[in-house]
Amino acid sequence: MFPGRVKVTCVAFQPDSWLGLVMSLWTPPPDDAPRRLADLRVSYDIGELDASDLSANPLDAFHGWFADAEAAGLPEPNAMILATATSGAAPSARTVLLKEADTRGFVFYTNLSSRKSGELRANPQASLAFPWFAMHRQVCVVGSAELIARDEVEAYFTSRPRGSRLGAWASEQSSVIADRSVLEERYATLDAEFGDDIPVPDFWGGWLIRPVTVEFWQGRPSRLHDRLRFRRLDDAPPTADPAPLDDPDRWLLERLAP
Ligand SMILES: Cc1cc2nc3c(=O)[nH]c(=O)nc-3n(C[C@H](O)[C@H](O)[C@H](O)COP(=O)(O)O)c2cc1C
Repeated sequence: MFPGRVKVTCVAFQPDSWLGLVMSLWTPPPDDAPRRLADLRVSYDIGELDASDLSANPLDAFHGWFADAEAAGLPEPNAMILATATSGAAPSARTVLLKEADTRGFVFYTNLSSRKSGELRANPQASLAFPWFAMHRQVCVVGSAELIARDEVEAYFTSRPRGSRLGAWASEQSSVIADRSVLEERYATLDAEFGDDIPVPDFWGGWLIRPVTVEFWQGRPSRLHDRLRFRRLDDAPPTADPAPLDDPDRWLLERLAP
């Protein structure tokens, strides 16, 4: 009835009887057969989230969850997905490392000539997502972007290992290069030129994402997840009257449908 299938199965299993042939037709795929993407799912059943579980302000709530992620041994818990968009609203996303979370918001460092920095200059709005999958959790931030002060950048840059400081100088981040040797040769030249005192490149700096919303998401069974979102209460331009992240009176906590 299915000549094509019988032929393929015979080649694979070499049945020496009609019974063997029939059995081979019913053999399930081997364990290492690729699973269909549509069948991949996890039951989110290790936690719940109620307003009473969170601190009353977004900053302490974030630090509480970050401490949980560190205690659970998650790899790179400060890795976050940063989404930006051009002035024409074409989006792009990539991972960066959170280096500060304080009353202002969330800080990361990068090349100021990179694609992301160009997009943030043209359209100073961004979104962050902390993907803490092993805990069935994520934190999502939406806010405005602004460059942080040079003295703060210098303090952080100086704290980086020498190789990272040289690497920042060596890479014209996001530009097209002919091959890897371009990077390695530039690194070697800079390595020979600089001593231990490596200044911050003018084209390197830090961005502050000043949140408008900070959402805490906990996976639950049957896709009835818990979502609690802090929303900044005022509509003032962020730099005019920034709402400190640790002031509970400036933030409203709301539950969202999953
Ligand atoms: C775990 C991880 C952490 C990263 N951290 C940073 C970072 O802190 N700053 C940065 O500029 N790029 C970081 N990157 C590289 C970025 O994802 C990206 O490739 C680079 O910044 C260029 O992005 P752009 O061309 O969109 O500007 C990281 C990548 C990974 C996977």
